Amino acid sequence: MSNIATQAGRRSLWSRHKVFETNSILLIIGVLLVISVGGLVEIAPLFYLKNTIEKVEGMRPYTPLELAGRAIYVREGCYNCHSQMIRPLRDEVERYGHYSLAAESMYDKPFQWGSKRIGPDLARVGGKYSDEWHRLHLTDPRLIVPQSIMPGYAFLFRNELKAGDIAAEMSANRLGGVPYTDAMIGAALVDLKAQAAPDHPGQDDLAKRYPKAQARDFDGDPGRITEADALIAYLQGVGTLVDFKLYDDKANIR
Ligand code: HEC
Repeated sequence: MSNIATQAGRRSLWSRHKVFETNSILLIIGVLLVISVGGLVEIAPLFYLKNTIEKVEGMRPYTPLELAGRAIYVREGCYNCHSQMIRPLRDEVERYGHYSLAAESMYDKPFQWGSKRIGPDLARVGGKYSDEWHRLHLTDPRLIVPQSIMPGYAFLFRNELKAGDIAAEMSANRLGGVPYTDAMIGAALVDLKAQAAPDHPGQDDLAKRYPKAQARDFDGDPGRITEADALIAYLQGVGTLVDFKLYDDKANIR
């Protein structure tokens, strides 16, 4: 008895489905409807959640010099060969360090995760080498790695850094959600100079506004602020803001 009933049920369902299966336009409309419901359920809540990125201690916006260096990184297309995203896989963590957190790129507009690794991942390159190493490597990578296929960027050491619009760039970042304060934007040029010059009197203020900011002459030419100053300052800061020891220790206590 029950067998016959389910068979009849199947048949009537099939006859309703037949409408779709024999009419391609109806089928397309049906498919679009079903997909858009799925899409809405997945995507719409993201617009209502206050925060989709977990806040992490230590993250701060880029200093003006780092921001200028980041712009050079983007301009020169370093992302075409380098990713900045360490995946939580054992081989990557052993080679590059702690896997990347979403919060670590929350002030990157646009993010530099990249999709190519012709060269190594750079998400934790900050502090890995000395400034001198970067100077040689950027001038001509083959001075350090004879078989390197990375292009040389010697011109960055000749180009004076044009930073006249750095305050405007910070304001634009603020529009995009980066928490630059009026004081930070007002002092942009002073902070930029303080970070690139040795023993500049503005370095205390810089460190107050941007904890962990490294201030020194990066390009080996204390008389000038070049594009290399900005790029090396940026590279030396990448991936250094979050203190993972703090988190690992907490995890150990628990
Ligand atoms: C054509 C691809 C290519 C481009 C473009 C490129 N690189 Fe590289 N990069 C490499 C390769 C390959 C290596 C590994 C060999 C070496 O160290 O030179 C490398 C290595 C590096 C390293 C050392 C990483 C480590 O952990 O040892 C740094 C830092 C670096 N690149 C920075 C940059 C920056 C900054 C730019 C843009 C100005 C850039 N690269 C552009 C290919 C590239």
